[in-house]
Amino acid sequence: MITALEEAKQAVIDRVGEADVALVLGSGLGAYADGLENATAIPYAQIPHMPSSGVSGHAGNLVAGTRAGKHVVAMQGRAHLYEGRSPGDVVFGVRLMASLGAKTLIVTNAAGGIASELEAGDLMAITDQLNLTGTSCLVGPNDDSLGPRFVDMTQAFDSSLVEVAAEVASGLGFELRRGVYAGLLGPTYETPAEVRMLRALGADAVGMSTVLEVIAARHMGLRVLGLSCISNLAAGIADGPLSHDDVKETANRVQSRFASLLAGILEAM
Ligand code: HPA
Repeated sequence: MITALEEAKQAVIDRVGEADVALVLGSGLGAYADGLENATAIPYAQIPHMPSSGVSGHAGNLVAGTRAGKHVVAMQGRAHLYEGRSPGDVVFGVRLMASLGAKTLIVTNAAGGIASELEAGDLMAITDQLNLTGTSCLVGPNDDSLGPRFVDMTQAFDSSLVEVAAEVASGLGFELRRGVYAGLLGPTYETPAEVRMLRALGADAVGMSTVLEVIAARHMGLRVLGLSCISNLAAGIADGPLSHDDVKETANRVQSRFASLLAGILEAM
Protein backbone atom coordinates (compact mmCIF):
# COMPACT_ATOMS: atom_id res chain seq x y z
CA MET A 1 0.00 0.00 0.00
CA ILE A 2 2.73 2.42 0.98
CA THR A 3 4.44 1.73 -2.35
CA ALA A 4 1.27 2.61 -4.24
CA LEU A 5 1.00 5.84 -2.27
CA GLU A 6 4.67 6.65 -2.85
CA GLU A 7 4.28 6.02 -6.59
CA ALA A 8 1.26 8.29 -6.78
CA LYS A 9 3.06 10.99 -4.82
CA GLN A 10 6.12 10.82 -7.09
CA ALA A 11 3.85 11.19 -10.12
CA VAL A 12 2.25 14.43 -8.92
CA ILE A 13 4.67 16.16 -6.55
CA ASP A 14 6.58 18.01 -9.31
CA ARG A 15 3.34 19.44 -10.70
CA VAL A 16 1.37 20.14 -7.51
CA GLY A 17 4.13 20.73 -4.94
CA GLU A 18 3.53 20.57 -1.21
CA ALA A 19 0.06 21.25 0.18
CA ASP A 20 -1.18 22.94 3.36
CA VAL A 21 -4.86 22.17 3.01
CA ALA A 22 -6.60 19.25 1.31
CA LEU A 23 -10.12 19.52 -0.07
CA VAL A 24 -12.57 16.87 -1.21
CA LEU A 25 -15.30 18.38 -3.37
CA GLY A 26 -18.53 16.42 -3.54
CA SER A 27 -21.45 16.20 -5.98
CA GLY A 28 -22.01 19.46 -7.81
CA LEU A 29 -19.36 21.23 -5.70
CA GLY A 30 -16.30 20.53 -7.86
CA ALA A 31 -16.28 23.88 -9.66
CA TYR A 32 -14.72 25.50 -6.59
CA ALA A 33 -11.31 24.13 -7.57
CA ASP A 34 -11.44 26.02 -10.89
CA GLY A 35 -11.26 29.26 -8.89
CA LEU A 36 -7.91 28.47 -7.26
CA GLU A 37 -5.05 30.73 -8.30
CA ASN A 38 -2.32 29.24 -10.54
CA ALA A 39 -4.35 26.05 -10.72
CA THR A 40 -2.93 22.84 -12.17
CA ALA A 41 -5.36 19.99 -12.82
CA ILE A 42 -4.20 16.39 -13.14
CA PRO A 43 -6.77 13.84 -14.34
CA TYR A 44 -7.01 10.88 -11.95
CA ALA A 45 -6.21 8.60 -14.91
CA GLN A 46 -2.67 10.08 -14.96
CA ILE A 47 -2.06 9.27 -11.28
CA PRO A 48 -0.90 5.70 -10.57
CA HIS A 49 -3.36 3.76 -8.35
CA MET A 50 -5.79 6.68 -8.08
CA PRO A 51 -9.32 5.31 -8.53
CA SER A 52 -11.52 7.07 -11.06
CA SER A 53 -14.75 8.70 -10.01
CA GLY A 54 -17.61 7.15 -11.90
CA VAL A 55 -20.57 9.28 -10.87
CA SER A 56 -22.04 12.07 -12.98
CA GLY A 57 -21.38 15.38 -11.24
CA HIS A 58 -17.85 14.31 -10.24
CA ALA A 59 -15.05 15.48 -12.57
CA GLY A 60 -12.10 13.29 -11.58
CA ASN A 61 -9.19 15.72 -11.30
CA LEU A 62 -6.64 16.47 -8.64
CA VAL A 63 -6.32 20.26 -8.69
CA ALA A 64 -3.59 22.21 -6.95
CA GLY A 65 -3.41 25.95 -6.55
CA THR A 66 -3.28 28.73 -4.01
CA ARG A 67 -5.95 30.62 -2.14
CA ALA A 68 -5.36 33.25 0.53
CA GLY A 69 -1.66 32.39 0.42
CA LYS A 70 -2.28 28.74 1.26
CA HIS A 71 -1.33 25.81 -0.92
CA VAL A 72 -4.52 23.93 -1.58
CA VAL A 73 -4.86 20.54 -3.20
CA ALA A 74 -8.37 19.47 -4.12
CA MET A 75 -10.08 16.33 -5.33
CA GLN A 76 -12.78 17.11 -7.89
CA GLY A 77 -14.75 13.92 -7.48
CA ARG A 78 -14.21 10.89 -5.30
CA ALA A 79 -14.55 7.11 -5.36
CA HIS A 80 -17.45 5.56 -3.44
CA LEU A 81 -17.97 2.17 -1.82
CA TYR A 82 -21.20 1.72 -3.80
CA GLU A 83 -19.20 1.75 -7.04
CA GLY A 84 -17.61 -1.47 -5.82
CA ARG A 85 -14.44 0.27 -4.68
CA SER A 86 -12.54 -1.09 -1.71
CA PRO A 87 -12.32 1.02 1.46
CA GLY A 88 -8.61 1.53 0.65
CA ASP A 89 -9.48 2.90 -2.81
CA VAL A 90 -12.12 5.20 -1.34
CA VAL A 91 -9.53 6.91 0.86
CA PHE A 92 -6.57 6.73 -1.53
CA GLY A 93 -6.91 10.37 -2.61
CA VAL A 94 -7.09 11.62 0.98
CA ARG A 95 -3.96 9.65 1.87
CA LEU A 96 -2.24 11.05 -1.22
CA MET A 97 -3.11 14.63 -0.28
CA ALA A 98 -1.91 14.01 3.28
CA SER A 99 1.36 12.60 1.92
CA LEU A 100 1.78 15.92 0.02
CA GLY A 101 1.97 17.58 3.43
CA ALA A 102 -1.62 18.70 4.05
CA LYS A 103 -2.33 19.05 7.77
CA THR A 104 -5.99 19.97 7.39
CA LEU A 105 -8.72 18.24 5.41
CA ILE A 106 -11.88 20.02 4.35
CA VAL A 107 -14.30 17.36 3.18
CA THR A 108 -17.56 18.24 1.47
CA ASN A 109 -20.59 16.33 0.31
CA ALA A 110 -24.20 16.55 -0.68
CA ALA A 111 -26.48 15.08 1.96
CA GLY A 112 -30.12 14.50 2.72
CA GLY A 113 -31.49 16.52 5.64
CA ILE A 114 -33.02 14.60 8.53
CA ALA A 115 -33.11 17.17 11.36
CA SER A 116 -36.35 19.15 11.31
CA GLU A 117 -34.64 22.54 11.09
CA LEU A 118 -32.77 21.62 7.89
CA GLU A 119 -33.96 22.81 4.48
CA ALA A 120 -32.74 22.01 0.99
CA GLY A 121 -29.98 24.49 0.14
CA ASP A 122 -28.68 24.77 3.72
CA LEU A 123 -24.98 24.37 4.42
CA MET A 124 -24.12 22.31 7.51
CA ALA A 125 -20.86 21.89 9.41
CA ILE A 126 -20.44 18.28 10.47
CA THR A 127 -19.92 18.05 14.22
CA ASP A 128 -19.63 14.26 14.38
CA GLN A 129 -20.28 11.19 12.26
CA LEU A 130 -21.89 7.77 12.27
CA ASN A 131 -19.97 5.28 10.14
CA LEU A 132 -22.79 2.99 9.05
CA THR A 133 -21.03 1.63 5.97
CA GLY A 134 -20.23 -1.62 7.76
CA THR A 135 -16.54 -1.29 6.97
CA SER A 136 -13.44 0.80 7.59
CA CYS A 137 -10.34 1.75 5.61
CA LEU A 138 -8.30 0.63 8.63
CA VAL A 139 -9.36 -3.04 8.52
CA GLY A 140 -6.33 -5.28 7.97
CA PRO A 141 -2.71 -4.97 9.04
CA ASN A 142 -1.97 -1.46 10.29
CA ASP A 143 0.55 0.59 8.35
CA ASP A 144 2.43 2.16 11.27
CA SER A 145 4.07 4.70 8.97
CA LEU A 146 0.62 6.22 8.34
CA GLY A 147 -0.75 6.16 11.87
CA PRO A 148 -1.58 4.08 14.94
CA ARG A 149 -3.56 0.84 15.09
CA PHE A 150 -6.31 2.33 17.27
CA VAL A 151 -7.39 5.81 16.35
CA ASP A 152 -9.06 8.23 18.74
CA MET A 153 -12.22 9.65 17.16
CA THR A 154 -13.30 11.91 20.05
CA GLN A 155 -12.53 15.00 17.95
CA ALA A 156 -13.14 13.46 14.54
CA PHE A 157 -14.19 16.95 13.43
CA ASP A 158 -12.18 19.84 14.80
CA SER A 159 -14.52 22.03 16.87
CA SER A 160 -12.38 25.14 16.42
CA LEU A 161 -12.68 24.79 12.62
CA VAL A 162 -16.47 24.52 13.02
CA GLU A 163 -16.39 27.83 14.91
CA VAL A 164 -14.26 29.44 12.20
CA ALA A 165 -16.68 28.22 9.53
CA ALA A 166 -19.71 29.47 11.48
CA GLU A 167 -18.18 32.92 11.89
CA VAL A 168 -17.32 33.12 8.20
CA ALA A 169 -20.90 32.11 7.31
CA SER A 170 -22.45 34.74 9.56
CA GLY A 171 -20.12 37.34 8.04
CA LEU A 172 -21.53 36.30 4.65
CA GLY A 173 -25.06 36.74 5.96
CA PHE A 174 -26.26 33.20 6.50
CA GLU A 175 -26.41 30.72 9.34
CA LEU A 176 -24.22 27.64 9.07
CA ARG A 177 -26.19 24.66 10.40
CA ARG A 178 -24.45 22.05 12.53
CA GLY A 179 -25.13 18.36 12.83
CA VAL A 180 -24.17 14.71 12.81
CA TYR A 181 -23.58 13.09 9.41
CA ALA A 182 -24.46 9.43 8.90
CA GLY A 183 -22.49 7.74 6.11
CA LEU A 184 -24.18 4.72 4.51
CA LEU A 185 -23.11 2.30 1.78
CA GLY A 186 -25.80 3.31 -0.76
CA PRO A 187 -26.39 3.41 -3.67
CA THR A 188 -30.10 3.45 -2.96
CA TYR A 189 -31.41 6.47 -1.17
CA GLU A 190 -32.87 5.44 2.18
CA THR A 191 -36.36 4.17 2.80
CA PRO A 192 -38.55 6.37 5.03
CA ALA A 193 -38.18 3.68 7.75
CA GLU A 194 -34.40 3.90 7.49
CA VAL A 195 -34.59 7.66 7.79
CA ARG A 196 -36.67 7.31 10.99
CA MET A 197 -34.06 4.85 12.28
CA LEU A 198 -31.24 7.27 11.46
CA ARG A 199 -33.02 10.08 13.27
CA ALA A 200 -33.41 7.84 16.34
CA LEU A 201 -29.68 7.07 16.15
CA GLY A 202 -28.85 10.78 16.32
CA ALA A 203 -28.21 11.57 12.66
CA ASP A 204 -29.05 15.02 11.32
CA ALA A 205 -28.02 14.36 7.72
CA VAL A 206 -27.31 11.30 5.59
CA GLY A 207 -25.07 10.56 2.64
CA MET A 208 -22.94 7.93 0.91
CA SER A 209 -19.43 9.27 1.35
CA THR A 210 -17.10 11.10 3.74
CA VAL A 211 -16.97 8.83 6.80
CA LEU A 212 -14.07 6.65 5.63
CA GLU A 213 -12.15 9.68 4.34
CA VAL A 214 -12.47 11.23 7.80
CA ILE A 215 -11.19 8.02 9.41
CA ALA A 216 -8.17 7.94 7.05
CA ALA A 217 -7.44 11.61 7.76
CA ARG A 218 -7.66 11.15 11.54
CA HIS A 219 -5.44 8.08 11.27
CA MET A 220 -2.79 10.30 9.66
CA GLY A 221 -3.32 13.06 12.22
CA LEU A 222 -5.04 15.66 10.03
CA ARG A 223 -7.53 18.14 11.45
CA VAL A 224 -10.87 17.76 9.70
CA LEU A 225 -13.65 20.16 8.78
CA GLY A 226 -16.72 18.59 7.16
CA LEU A 227 -19.27 20.62 5.21
CA SER A 228 -22.53 19.19 3.90
CA CYS A 229 -24.70 20.82 1.29
CA ILE A 230 -28.22 19.75 2.23
CA SER A 231 -29.35 18.95 -1.28
CA ASN A 232 -32.72 17.49 -0.36
CA LEU A 233 -34.80 16.43 2.59
CA ALA A 234 -34.24 12.73 3.31
CA ALA A 235 -36.77 10.19 2.05
CA GLY A 236 -40.22 10.38 3.59
CA ILE A 237 -39.71 13.85 5.09
CA ALA A 238 -40.86 15.79 2.03
CA ASP A 239 -43.42 14.48 -0.45
CA GLY A 240 -42.22 12.75 -3.58
CA PRO A 241 -39.25 10.68 -4.71
CA LEU A 242 -35.56 11.65 -4.55
CA SER A 243 -33.41 12.01 -7.66
CA HIS A 244 -29.71 12.55 -8.30
CA ASP A 245 -30.65 15.34 -10.73
CA ASP A 246 -32.38 17.23 -7.89
CA VAL A 247 -29.32 16.66 -5.66
CA LYS A 248 -27.04 18.13 -8.34
CA GLU A 249 -29.46 20.97 -9.07
CA THR A 250 -29.54 22.10 -5.43
CA ALA A 251 -25.76 21.77 -5.10
CA ASN A 252 -25.39 23.94 -8.22
CA ARG A 253 -27.80 26.50 -6.80
CA VAL A 254 -25.75 26.98 -3.61
CA GLN A 255 -22.38 26.72 -5.35
CA SER A 256 -21.51 30.41 -5.13
CA ARG A 257 -22.43 30.63 -1.42
CA PHE A 258 -20.43 27.50 -0.82
CA ALA A 259 -17.42 28.92 -2.72
CA SER A 260 -17.54 32.14 -0.66
CA LEU A 261 -17.69 30.08 2.53
CA LEU A 262 -14.68 27.99 1.53
CA ALA A 263 -12.69 31.05 0.47
CA GLY A 264 -13.48 32.77 3.77
CA ILE A 265 -12.50 29.69 5.77
CA LEU A 266 -9.17 29.40 3.95
CA GLU A 267 -8.49 33.07 4.68
CA ALA A 268 -9.45 32.76 8.35
CA MET A 269 -7.53 29.55 9.01
N1 HPA B 1 -29.45 10.15 1.08
C1 HPA B 1 -28.21 9.66 0.87
N2 HPA B 1 -27.28 10.30 0.18
C2 HPA B 1 -27.58 11.52 -0.29
C3 HPA B 1 -28.84 12.10 -0.10
C4 HPA B 1 -29.83 11.37 0.63
O1 HPA B 1 -30.97 11.82 0.84
N3 HPA B 1 -28.83 13.31 -0.71
C5 HPA B 1 -27.58 13.46 -1.24
N4 HPA B 1 -26.83 12.37 -0.99
